[in-house]
Amino acid sequence: MANKQANLDLGETEQTFPILEGSCGPDVVDIRKLYGATGKFTYDPGYKSTASCESALTFIDGEEGVLLHRGYPIGQLAESSSFMEVAYLLLNGELPSADELDDFDNTITRHTMVHDQLRQFYQGFRRDAHPMAIMCGVVGALSAFYHDSTDISDPEHRKISSHRLIAKMPTIAAMAYKYSIGQPFLPPQNSLSYTGNFLRMTFGVPAEEYEVIPAVEKAMDRIFILHADHEQNASTSTVRLAGSSGANPFACMAAGIACLWGPAHGGANEAALNMLQEIGTPDRIQHYIERAKDKNDPFRLMGFGHRVYKNYDPRATVMQKTVREVFEALNVKDPVFETALQLEEIALNDDYFAEKKLFPNVDFYSGIILSAIGFPTTMFTALFALARTVGWVAQWNEMISDPAQVIGRPRQLYTGPTQRDYVPIEQR
Ligand code: ACO
Repeated sequence: MANKQANLDLGETEQTFPILEGSCGPDVVDIRKLYGATGKFTYDPGYKSTASCESALTFIDGEEGVLLHRGYPIGQLAESSSFMEVAYLLLNGELPSADELDDFDNTITRHTMVHDQLRQFYQGFRRDAHPMAIMCGVVGALSAFYHDSTDISDPEHRKISSHRLIAKMPTIAAMAYKYSIGQPFLPPQNSLSYTGNFLRMTFGVPAEEYEVIPAVEKAMDRIFILHADHEQNASTSTVRLAGSSGANPFACMAAGIACLWGPAHGGANEAALNMLQEIGTPDRIQHYIERAKDKNDPFRLMGFGHRVYKNYDPRATVMQKTVREVFEALNVKDPVFETALQLEEIALNDDYFAEKKLFPNVDFYSGIILSAIGFPTTMFTALFALARTVGWVAQWNEMISDPAQVIGRPRQLYTGPTQRDYVPIEQR
């Protein structure tokens, strides 16, 4: 319970509000009763100072560059864990025992197939459709397939939907890719790991055996871990808001995918690699740095800056290390990586970026790895969506099981016309 209080002096009246303390991070002023007590709203359009919910999943200290899932640092999870283990952790709150992990892995594996009729949805898209457009449509369409688990107030129904979503997302993403290049869909293969199976469904062909390269599988799994959850980011908040009305979970995830697609969010990894390729060689970096600093130029360094991190994004550190591992395993040399390293160094030593606390974020290096593995840029955000589904599902579950949950319904500062009478068309 709150011991500390905040006083708000509104001139004609002074009100006291409780200050709530979390386990770490900033305290929050609980202004839920503000409107009732004063007739006033708060105004915070980008939620820069607003905690939209209570959550026990993920903690970020943006100033220090810390990211914890259920208390565990992202660096340790990326180094020692697996994506399935992190998914279990996020969903259940604790790391699994060996038996629990085995059981969870098995359940997810057995949900990876999609209804055969779902194939027909793909045929409705143009060949050159962006995979995220396909993902939005197909994941939303899943809501029409699973009528056995639509009671979201039943924890067992929620669990089944969660498992289905986590399991089917790789199949759906791989099918989006296959469709775009005109190759046949490959069904899942249960003998493979979650990530190995995804690589095979994406890059394998029915005509020959596909061999999963362990270093690539490990790198991909780590990339999934790095993207699994990230507190109340835009897409997660979208999922929560959509879910707060009691909407179907598959439809809520489609809403999250739509939000993630934007270049200021998940689309930044695609934009970052496009930018690095456009820069091309290190001698052109300075020109782009100047453009990023020019207020009259809309250009921004993609993969740089973050709403929360005002320090190095801890995921970017792991990502940079993973680039080296993948390059070594695949014997790849990519001048774009050199450009990225130099761009980072120049930007970090530039006063503009230092003053605004702009550092590389998770997207700065991820595109380089994904490209080396063989993914086209258009698939990058689809991979992000695949991994973030775990976070979306965990956050959605947390919200629905919270007894204090109510529909999300922000208010506004209205600046439109005041009431006026309708004017018949002949008098206008
Ligand atoms: N390049 C150049 N300048 C930048 C950049 C950038 N990448 N990012 C922010 N700035 C500048 C802004 O122009 C602004 O300057 P001003 O104060 O003089 O007006 C200042 O830094 C603050 O920027 P805001 O956009 O107000 O900060 P906000 O917290 O709202 O935005 C965001 C964060 C959207 C991520 C921004 O840094 C950005 O656009 N980065 C590039 C896109 C990107 O990499 N997105 C991925 C985010 S991580 C993720 O979603 C997984």
